[in-house]
Amino acid sequence: MNDEGLIALASEMREKAYVPYSKFAVGAALLAKSGRVYTGCNVENASYSLSVCAERVAIYKAVSEGEREFEAIAVVTEKGVPPCGACRQVLREFGEGIRIIVADVYGKRRIFTLEELLPEAFKAEDLM
Ligand code: THU
Repeated sequence: MNDEGLIALASEMREKAYVPYSKFAVGAALLAKSGRVYTGCNVENASYSLSVCAERVAIYKAVSEGEREFEAIAVVTEKGVPPCGACRQVLREFGEGIRIIVADVYGKRRIFTLEELLPEAFKAEDLM
C-alpha cells in the first residue's frame, strides 16, 4: 500500500478514536513488511494514565499477529503532529528503518525517519 492509502486508513481510524477527555483524536495505519496493514486509534480512560496512543494500538495489534518488521506508519491528527516519545521508543523496538508519515486533515504531509525523531535511542543491543 502507498502512503496515501495508509493516510486514508489512518484518517478513517481517527474517526473511531475514543477521546472523551482530551478530544484529541489520532488515527494510525502501520504497514508491515508482509504487506499487511494494522490500524489503531487512541483509546482513553477515566483513569487518565491508562489511555493508550493510536500508534501503540496499531503496533501491538501487528506484533500480536506475528509481525516483527515494518515499512511505514501513517499518523493522522488535525494539525499533523509526530508521535509521542513513548510511541517512538516502542517503534524503535522493531527496527530503525520505519518511515513515519505525519499527516494533518488538510492535506499536509511530512515524512520522518526514526533516527530523526529518536536519535541515540535506547535499544536491545544496549542490554548486551
Ligand atoms: N496521543 C496519541 O494517540 N498519539 C500520540 O503520539 C500523541 C498522543 C493521544 C493520547 C491521548 O489520548 C491524546 O492523544 C492526548 O494526549
